[in-house]
Amino acid sequence: MSTLDEKISQLQEIIDSAKHIVFFTGAGVSTDSGIPDFRSQDGLYHLKYKYPPEEIVSHHFFVQNPEEFWEFYKDKMLNLDAEPNLTHKFMAECEKAGKSLGVVTQNIDGLHQKAGSEKVYELHGSVLRNYCTRCGQFYSAEYIKNSSGIPVCEKDGASIKPDVVLYEEGLSDPVIRGAIAAIRSADVLIVLGTSLVVYPAAGLINYFSGKHLVLINRDVTPYDSNADLLIQASFSDVFPKLHV
Ligand code: APR
Repeated sequence: MSTLDEKISQLQEIIDSAKHIVFFTGAGVSTDSGIPDFRSQDGLYHLKYKYPPEEIVSHHFFVQNPEEFWEFYKDKMLNLDAEPNLTHKFMAECEKAGKSLGVVTQNIDGLHQKAGSEKVYELHGSVLRNYCTRCGQFYSAEYIKNSSGIPVCEKDGASIKPDVVLYEEGLSDPVIRGAIAAIRSADVLIVLGTSLVVYPAAGLINYFSGKHLVLINRDVTPYDSNADLLIQASFSDVFPKLHV
């Protein structure tokens, strides 16, 4: 059983020899930025709410209970003061150094782009984009955060919807196609900060056929046995010891 340091030096060797890394991320990469994830003990889905949080972020709940949806969404899903952390920045540096094809993320917080990543496939959309459901007028996350009650379009009074994939909604085809193409051309896929329990997102890692599948996550995932290198640790114990 190799120690954490031995695994980190193995990861450094993989990164040094890699030419086309793709990072596949989940909410766990943003917890060091102060944004709770979903399924950790202190995650959003363990919060005691009038309704189960996983139901609140569903399409039918958005349509049938807009008041409660927007109260939860503004309170728990909009962390607009959050800053990228070392893990986000490391991925952005790999892209700038020409070693990474980009990031496939399930996250909706926009922190990969804020860290400097340019190629980001947002499988579940982004809180930074909000549109009128009738005329398509764009609204910022700040507008939503500062709105009272149910935000409506200033032009036609119709409801506004975040560009976020809620449960029961489909993912964007072009984003999925782009993510699959990137994963297919990767020589190294580094999966981090995700419990890999939500599909179709989790299934995308099956398109990887490159040299090294690396999985870095504090808790166990259903894909642990598929990893060539499995690092069960907190990112703050791993990324400060890595360099591009
Ligand atoms: N260091 C290492 N691992 C961490 C850290 C950390 N600092 N913080 C959290 N993690 C790990 C946890 O162990 C957990 O397994 O990140 C994982 C986050 O898993 P989830 O909370 O399930 O988040 P995610 O996998 O992104 O959820 C997928 O579920 O509800 C949907 O749309 C939502 O995109 C989300 C999807």
